[in-house]
Amino acid sequence: MSIRINVDGQMGTEEDRLLSALDQGFLFGASVYETIRTYDGVPFVLERHLERLRASAEALGIDIDVSRETLTERLRATLEKAGNAESSIRIVISAGIGAIDYRTGSARKPTVVIIVRPLPAFPESLYQSGAKAAFVTVMRASRGNLSPKIKSSNLLNNIMALRQAHEKGAYEALLLNGRGEVCEGSMSNVFVVRGGAVATPPLSSGLLEGITREHVIEIARANSIELEEKTCTPEDLLGADEVFITASAREVVPIVRVDETTIGDGKPGPVTQKIMKCYQVHVRALMSTTETVD
Ligand code: PDD
Repeated sequence: MSIRINVDGQMGTEEDRLLSALDQGFLFGASVYETIRTYDGVPFVLERHLERLRASAEALGIDIDVSRETLTERLRATLEKAGNAESSIRIVISAGIGAIDYRTGSARKPTVVIIVRPLPAFPESLYQSGAKAAFVTVMRASRGNLSPKIKSSNLLNNIMALRQAHEKGAYEALLLNGRGEVCEGSMSNVFVVRGGAVATPPLSSGLLEGITREHVIEIARANSIELEEKTCTPEDLLGADEVFITASAREVVPIVRVDETTIGDGKPGPVTQKIMKCYQVHVRALMSTTETVD
């Protein structure tokens, strides 16, 4: 099990200094990223992640000059070199080396980083017993501040939010938007269940269009589970029968407590459990049609 890092085609480990200190990604957080996990060693829905990565880069004015073929070949080589049973992959595209000012256009060439590390072992108890979440005072940056279409590596907001949640003994932070609506977690999307029906905040609440969220919406539709995208207040969430969060590596995680409020009976509820099961089936079905990373 190992970490391998590929920068612009050059392979290294965490010991190697492969990045320039003048990289605007490092200096200003002018970079975008994707987190992808593997199943049986194969990246899950890679194409969709690459599509979102390109859209993020474009929105930040970064022109990815590396072809999809080159990127996937670098990814294949990095996965092979790392030799992990399962990996978490982070692909980062930064503006590149440029002036020490905010003109990202001064950077001649984006930097393309691929980090492959062993997939963290998420404890079984997280899925069987559920986790605690906490509302935090840090707000999700408004769409006017930073478009949620940009999956930016500038994650100070998320860092501060998660820190606050951890101080409250919670696993995940729940961020509100400027209108006081529930938006998303610091690293996840949020769903609530009431009377057997699922709801999740709409994109207009200013959240990241999570890929796991997309799959859960699809799964609900395919399994006759009522699901609606609608704005959600903190009270809606606290009064829900069930709450769960979604993210690529962690998949579907039940939330059984929010701050001092127990959600439902404090155990992962039946709808959440059904979606968790269906998600595994859905992943396997999609993976069976995805052979390799080429
Ligand atoms: N991020 N919202 C935020 C703010 C996130 O950071 C993430 C995931 C999600 C869920 O997106 P997806 O289902 O596409 O993974 C929602 C990844 C896990 C990360 O930061 O590494």
